[in-house]
Parts: sequence; structure tokens; C-alpha cells
Amino acid sequence: MLVTGQASTEGTASGKVILFGEHAVVYGSPAIAAGLDRGARAVVTRQPSGPSTLRLGDGTVVADASSASDLGRAFSALLEVAPAIPPVHVEARCDLPPGGGLGSSAALAVSIARAAEALARSGEIRPEEGAAIEARVLARAAAWERIFHGNPSGIDATAAAQGGIFRFTRAEGARPITPRHDLVLCVGSTGHPSSTRTTVELIASQHAKDPVLVKRSIDAITSIVGNAVLAIEAGDMRALGDLMNMNQLVLSGLFVSTSELEELCALARSAGALGAKLTGGGGGGCVLALVPPSFRSDGTRDEAREAESAARILDAWRGAEGHYEGF
Ligand code: MEV
Repeated sequence: MLVTGQASTEGTASGKVILFGEHAVVYGSPAIAAGLDRGARAVVTRQPSGPSTLRLGDGTVVADASSASDLGRAFSALLEVAPAIPPVHVEARCDLPPGGGLGSSAALAVSIARAAEALARSGEIRPEEGAAIEARVLARAAAWERIFHGNPSGIDATAAAQGGIFRFTRAEGARPITPRHDLVLCVGSTGHPSSTRTTVELIASQHAKDPVLVKRSIDAITSIVGNAVLAIEAGDMRALGDLMNMNQLVLSGLFVSTSELEELCALARSAGALGAKLTGGGGGGCVLALVPPSFRSDGTRDEAREAESAARILDAWRGAEGHYEGF
């Protein structure tokens, strides 16, 4: 059925950081992710005739939904909306570095799928339809992610769709975590994009050769994640920082860290971070550093002191040789 009405609709979605458990989550273990304020925005506009077209970012990446390229197929998967929509032009932008491990690909997919759903309903989504539509948005974002990432666990698309901080498994999906205290994190980028597909395949080939060895690392990450949930709920930031460092060690043992990621982690720790680790697929991309919390004598948070602590970490990254930047 063709729905006439609103000519242009918008969808948004968040980027994400993986706090704990990347890669192990692909094998069914739990992981912890948090949505970022930054993310993606897509505007879908009806066209008089086909094919549907997509322009990403500054316009250098353009696709059409009838093309057999990876981007063309992935885009077409996002437009499989019921009721069907007419040919559209999509403009989508993401204010996250591509290949930074911050979920830019999933955020773009979710924002486009949401805008397409809204167009199919003339911009009006009734509250009782909300959950079913979000489930379809996630399913189509998963189809997009499978084309680019091979074997996605679904954590990136879930974070893009719902934000917040949550524990995730492939079998159970997301369960929100209530932190006792807000977490203040700095994100540092190596400036080198990473390919999640490449690092997921690297671990898959290690797993094929020596499943027992890889399972040991996955089991170690599983127990780190379990303890991290408890530390977040208890507000034990020191324990949380130690657990980040341990998670980083296990990821290095799986060969998904790089000397640049290790250097960013070391710089953050010497600048006062309670812990630091890569986030996302690794092999490039970004690290996370946990800023120590500061409390006034009456127990309230001293945000100004925390901002100074964060600034020390960001300065340490900026002062290093390489392509580092942070936020
Ligand atoms: C990528 O953000 C997280 C990985 O665990 C892959 C996935 O879960 O799909 C590396």
C-alpha cells in the first residue's frame, strides 16, 4: 500500500561506547554499552520517481537502492518498510568518526530506518505501535550491519536505538543498568579507522584454530563484565577502573589492540584515569578512560574538579605524537 501525506520525515539515533565485553558478546557472553549524546540524523524525502537514493555525510558517499554494491544492498534493506514507501531521497549525517568503534554505522542505519518508518506512517507513530516498529527498525539495522560487519551481535544497533547504559546478550537483548553514580569518560581517538569486520574475523579464525584458548579469554571477559555490572551499581569507580584495565589486557591477548591504543591507555592512566581500554572492535579506533569522581564534603559531585581531571587526560592525549584527539 502506498501512503500519501507527509513529504519528508526525520529519524535520529545515538552513537555508543562499549564499556566492557566487546568481541566476547559475539560468542553469546554479556557486554555493557552506553549511548552517546552524539549520533546520526537522517531525513527521508519522497521523490516523484525511483530509484531511492542515499547521500551520506558531506555528500562524498552516494548510493542507490537498486545497486548491487554493499552500500546499495544495505540501504535497500533499510527501506523495506510496511506499508511500502514510494521512491525517496535520504540525507544522513553522523557526527562520530567512521570506523572509530563508536557505532557510527549502526546509528546511521537506525536513523534511516526510523525516518523510513515515520514516512510510511505519514510522520505519525501511534504509541501502541512504538515497540513493534522499533523491533522492525532493529531487524533492518541488523541486516545493514550484517553486510558491513559480517557477524554483528546486535549491541551497536541496540545502543543506537535506545541509548542509556545497559547489559546486553545476544539471547536476552538489553537490560538497563542503574549506576549509583554517573560515569565520566573521556574518548580518545587514534585517528586511524578500524574495521570491525576484520577484528571479528581475526578472533573467529583464532577460535577456529584453538577454541579452548579463545574460550578462556571469553570466560575471563564474562567474569569481568559480571563484576563491572556490580561495580557500576555500587558506584565503586576504583574497581571499575581496574576492571577496564583487565578487560584491555584480555583484548590485547586476543590481538585486537594496537601500539597506538596501548599508548593512549597508558597516557590516560598516567594522567590520572582510573582505568582505560579500547572500545568497539579495536585494531584502531578509540579508547575510553574513566575519570576519577570528585565529591564535595556534603557528598555532592564536584563537576568542576572532574572537568579538570578530564582535561588532564585530554591534554595528555593531545600532547602525544600521533593523530590523537579526544572528547
Ligand atoms: C563492535 O562495536 C562490538 C563487537 O563486539 C562486534 C559486535 O558485537 O557486533 C566487536
